[in-house]
Amino acid sequence: MSSILLEPSSAPTGRVATTRTVLMCRPEHFTVSYRINPWMHPHVPTDTALAVRQWEELYRIYRDLGFEVHLVDPIPGLPDMVYAANGGFVLDNIAYGASFQYAERQPEGPAYMEWFRANGFDVAEPANVNEGEGDFLLVGDVILAGTGFRSAGDSHGEVARLFGREVLTLTLVDPAFYHLDTAIAVLDPTPGAEDIAYLPKAFDAASRAALEARFPDAILVSDEDAAVLGLNSFSDGANVVIASRATGFERQLRERGYNPIGVDLSELLLGGGGVKCCTLELRR
Ligand code: ARG
Repeated sequence: MSSILLEPSSAPTGRVATTRTVLMCRPEHFTVSYRINPWMHPHVPTDTALAVRQWEELYRIYRDLGFEVHLVDPIPGLPDMVYAANGGFVLDNIAYGASFQYAERQPEGPAYMEWFRANGFDVAEPANVNEGEGDFLLVGDVILAGTGFRSAGDSHGEVARLFGREVLTLTLVDPAFYHLDTAIAVLDPTPGAEDIAYLPKAFDAASRAALEARFPDAILVSDEDAAVLGLNSFSDGANVVIASRATGFERQLRERGYNPIGVDLSELLLGGGGVKCCTLELRR
């Protein structure tokens, strides 16, 4: 492709947006009071009001994109509940519940399952430790599944049986990228047009080889962009909401005909989460 001949603004995108339905949780009780990932420093002060304002901006962007946004009530004493992606994995109207690895987050599992039940989803109680869409990403007909830090390997088989889909296990090796959604961004999940971006060094050699074989055209992001959780983004197939500080990733997305939309979630980054962590996709 000879990009030199085209002004970016006149480049045909060919990307098709599909309206998403998502679940979010307002960070009314957000703070960092414990440390379960390397991003968290309980002695560094957090600004809950700022976290709420930044989150409201993400919420507004989704509404402007035409998304159907549902909200689950935040619960006092569960500061990480804002990271709704971890609340479950929802596909075919089935909500596979989360079972958190660390005690601090364990009450979130039942809280999210209660919301799924009250909102018409069939809830599958999990038998294995898993942190929902933080570690399970649907791409085409395959579910990419992370392990190494949080979700147990056994949860992958459970998900394969429950949804009758192929599950590809990917092993994370860098503690800074402890959930799969910190190391892979799904840009287009449409079967036949699958497109992802990822950080190779976040994976062991076998997982890297599997990703290369399956997604030879994937965007590989820089360490700098990954270090601001640039991959922790949410795409509707055409618009990709990303950390505004991930400027290299922003450029890569534009070159591929996506429309990147930057948002600053610096407060939520103090808890080790970004755009995608705040977003759980609901697939009926
Ligand atoms: N403090 C949270 C934890 O360590 C952050 C979760 C981020 N969520 C995500 N989907 N990556 O569990």
